Amino acid sequence: MEIPILDLKGRSAEELRGDRELARSADEGLSTVGTFVLCGHGVPGEILGAVRSTAEDFFAEPESEKQAWARPMTPEVARGYFGLPSGVVSVMGMERFSFGAWERDENDPYYGSSEGRAHFPDNRFPPQHAAFESAARAYFRCVEDVSHKLAVILEEALQLAPGAFTENLNGNTGTATAILYPGGGVPPEGGVRIQAHNDVDLYTILRIFDDSRTDLYFLDRENRWNEVPAVRDSFIVNVGDLMQRYTNDRWLATSHKVLVPPQSSAQDRFSLAYFEHPRYDTIVAPLKALLKREKQEPAYPPARVADFERQRRMLIHLGQTANEELLEPIEKRLGSA
Ligand SMILES: [Fe+2]
Repeated sequence: MEIPILDLKGRSAEELRGDRELARSADEGLSTVGTFVLCGHGVPGEILGAVRSTAEDFFAEPESEKQAWARPMTPEVARGYFGLPSGVVSVMGMERFSFGAWERDENDPYYGSSEGRAHFPDNRFPPQHAAFESAARAYFRCVEDVSHKLAVILEEALQLAPGAFTENLNGNTGTATAILYPGGGVPPEGGVRIQAHNDVDLYTILRIFDDSRTDLYFLDRENRWNEVPAVRDSFIVNVGDLMQRYTNDRWLATSHKVLVPPQSSAQDRFSLAYFEHPRYDTIVAPLKALLKREKQEPAYPPARVADFERQRRMLIHLGQTANEELLEPIEKRLGSA
């Protein structure tokens, strides 16, 4: 199945509004193969390159140093380092470092309440890696801008009034994760770098730092795995559970996985994922305008984002589903190994 490639041609969010062709491509990708590729997004290559090199500097530190910045095991959000040895879920192991919003107004109860503080904890960058923090911060501003453009395109794709998605991004609880799948040795052919899973967020914006291949596969509606084409300087977009509920299953939280390339001497694979979540006090329900147009009944009751995500995370603790952002079923398996 063909995966659409959307070219934003460096346009601003407002310039993208009303682009029906772009909106149709997004809808086609998300309703069939579950993904599309975004280029012309306007994020400078130097910023992306700086995140990669500074993150790799951090990942090269001794294990004890990295563990000093380990992600606290609270269910709300991911901040800091998380590593998995080889063979647990990824044939050659995996290292991750997550970060979220820096700017928040503590005088605003949305941020300053105990619920707000749980959703917006401090980032955990080591002071000796200040360059990593400043690159990550610059990238975070850029990817939030891409997310805003994407929200406009998705509003258009569903023919919604302006603001249907973008308004809930003001105070969003999105997080970004630098991911390193270390190379070395000859991996088993057909090995899995991350098992098939779906995302729990609104949507995910992924950058893969390899212009020749992605090794990322999505399961389409006909149950076939499709590899995402490598497109220079692009992001790969897929939607998560929250968007599936908004759209009453028009766009599914599609299953995806990363495989080891065949017959490859294993090289490092570096990627940057941004998981977009709306404000935690947003009520997510199938969109009324969409239900009316498609003459559908809502498949889901309304849910407050914080409550819905907490419930999903409980299911993840019970091992009934998988979530890349939290990796809790993997930790659970690791604990019992
Ligand atoms: Fe994922």
